Amino acid sequence: MNHFYNPVAVSFGAASAEAFADMLQNRYALVERVLVLTRGGDVEKSDSLKSVMHMLSKKETLLKEVTLYNPNCADILKLKQDIEPFGYELIVAIGGGSVMDAAKVLSALQRKQVQTVAQVREAITSEWYRGESHFTPWIGIPTTSGTGSEVTCWATIWDEECGSKYSVSDVRLYASEALILPELTVTMPMRLSVATALDAMCHATEAYWSVHTNTITRVYALQAIKRIRRTLPLLIEQPDDLALREQLSTASVLAGLAFSNTRTTACHSISYPLTMLYGIDHGIAASLTLAAVMRHNLAALIDPEKLLHAFGAADVDGVDHFIQSIYNQYGLPGRLGHYGATVEGIRHVVSLSYTKGRMDNNPVNLSSEELERMLVSLL
Ligand SMILES: [Fe+2]
Repeated sequence: MNHFYNPVAVSFGAASAEAFADMLQNRYALVERVLVLTRGGDVEKSDSLKSVMHMLSKKETLLKEVTLYNPNCADILKLKQDIEPFGYELIVAIGGGSVMDAAKVLSALQRKQVQTVAQVREAITSEWYRGESHFTPWIGIPTTSGTGSEVTCWATIWDEECGSKYSVSDVRLYASEALILPELTVTMPMRLSVATALDAMCHATEAYWSVHTNTITRVYALQAIKRIRRTLPLLIEQPDDLALREQLSTASVLAGLAFSNTRTTACHSISYPLTMLYGIDHGIAASLTLAAVMRHNLAALIDPEKLLHAFGAADVDGVDHFIQSIYNQYGLPGRLGHYGATVEGIRHVVSLSYTKGRMDNNPVNLSSEELERMLVSLL
């Protein structure tokens, strides 16, 4: 179906922050208690957030630092128990993907009574929230440029205990508003800057070829890839350059919009066990198979030359070369073996790579034998 929908009101840049704060004041005039989740490091004291924090100072607020990376069921239980007595009516998430994912899960499960990790797991895997009449509204202010979580309606929760990764997904989990402030991304460590940009590049590319691709998604996707391709090689020399950060923040939102309607495909599906078993950063893990999966999907792509052109490449080898050049430039290992993967380990990766809604969203079927051969070739 060639259809696109996204309800998030997006404001961009520090010059929009005051109008954004006014909009929140009007829209949430009757809200009294606001939960503010931050990534820590006093990010809420940033100059560009002054007007938003001033608006929030008129409310009763609970500020909670969420220094989580890839939150799991136990993290959610602890966070939920910590904040439960506050009775929040609105959540403001100022942080990266993990902070925004935590906001989404709290939004979906605020009214669910849970005392144990098993009960959190059950609430997520049974999709308890589907029958819930009220989702707490939330606002996203990303401090990284890659996740796109501020414009998607799902969150990822990890479960190392069960070797699984869950999706909390519902159309009511879209943020009501998002404020994109590239200034907030300048202090990101370089490795995180690169990993998140590669994540956005995969979101855009996978959205482009997804089973659920559509005309609007492909326009957003190509624009996102072009921006990342032009900008990422320059960031190493000028990490403080706001114009470069603006390009990457824009690319991240465009990629987020693109895959908000399609979700991801094989590269993300394979990345989850790579992250869980070998600790590879999410965006890097997704990018490690991007060129190989592109080669596998090539015959099924709509306008493949447009996708290759966005990468500045004439063929898939050119895309592979670009990705490898980014790894080399930033000192990142480009082979699975460098992260500790072995031939035997690959079989385990393959067994965990078939996430429902991701692998079956790939335009060309990828059998476990084909995947094993692909991953062994990337050792
Ligand atoms: Fe991702």
